[in-house]
Amino acid sequence: MDSTLRNADCGPSFVYALRGVTEAAARAAYDWIGRGDKNQGDLAGVEAMRDALNDMPVGGTVVIGEGEKDEAPELYKGEELGDRSSVLQFDIAVDPVEGTSYLAKGMTNAMAVIAMAPRGSMFDPGPAFYMEKFAGPAAVRGKIDPKAPVAEKLKVLGEALDKPISELTVYVLEKPRHKELVSRIHAAGARVALYPAGDVAGALMAAIPDSGIDALMGTGGTPEGVISACAIRLLGGEFLGRLDPQLPSEIIAVREAGLDTSKWYGVDELIRSDEVYFCATGITTGLLFEGVERTCSQERTQTLMIAGPGGERQILTTWHPRVAGK
Ligand code: FBP
Repeated sequence: MDSTLRNADCGPSFVYALRGVTEAAARAAYDWIGRGDKNQGDLAGVEAMRDALNDMPVGGTVVIGEGEKDEAPELYKGEELGDRSSVLQFDIAVDPVEGTSYLAKGMTNAMAVIAMAPRGSMFDPGPAFYMEKFAGPAAVRGKIDPKAPVAEKLKVLGEALDKPISELTVYVLEKPRHKELVSRIHAAGARVALYPAGDVAGALMAAIPDSGIDALMGTGGTPEGVISACAIRLLGGEFLGRLDPQLPSEIIAVREAGLDTSKWYGVDELIRSDEVYFCATGITTGLLFEGVERTCSQERTQTLMIAGPGGERQILTTWHPRVAGK
């Protein structure tokens, strides 16, 4: 039997179990908020996520880990987790701390993220760490030509949302490489919301109607791109990605691997199944949900859960009793 059919037996309730994985990572990373140490926070999230995944009654292989680019702690690509004898086997995409610099600086928008989908259904970006992205709402699905000029994309977006371009807001990572992109968005008349990090949040907001963000444009991490595509496929929104290597060693590796950097991948190529389960738990409070709150007796988490194949979306607030001494 192919694993897609078997995994369909999981049903939307699977996402409730999966939320324990990002909640564990977020609660572990909480201790490192505002302590100036990206790696320790990342490590705490990675270890908690690994333990939680190993306790799951299903098996999975990490296809998208995060950390290679920054030589940070990671769940490594190819790592097998959970119950390896289970008939339910998944591809796993993780980012135990998305926004490590936010965490270290005690800023908003750090979150723990995971997506799981049937084995063999996630795009493998090989040695590419960076991806150029376009994310937008369901209204533009199939309507955006990623190679078109920025002004043209904004025109299509405005028409689809029935908004003048001057009322569109585009989320862009604040990076030197985006200077020209930002000028072009401004020249077209739209607003730019510049964030120093965190393009998973930007992509999710772009796909969620009335979030205050209408699109995400620019280049960010490839793992974050595939993770965003998983959520956006379920949300029915648009996500397009093109491998866009930035580091000298990455440029060589991508060339040697024979990867085509001119090809734009559609959301259905980045994730080839509707049986996707996505969870994101706030570590620090962000635009979509709140971060971990700790009192002496409990910790409160908020988790965005999106369950395939219907794309049911919920934000769940959970109060976790604290174990004495922890
Ligand atoms: P980290 O969690 O690794 O800090 O990633 C944050 C992030 O801003 C991502 O959201 C984004 O995709 C990527 O980094 C961009 O990478 P860079 O900061 O190297 O341009």
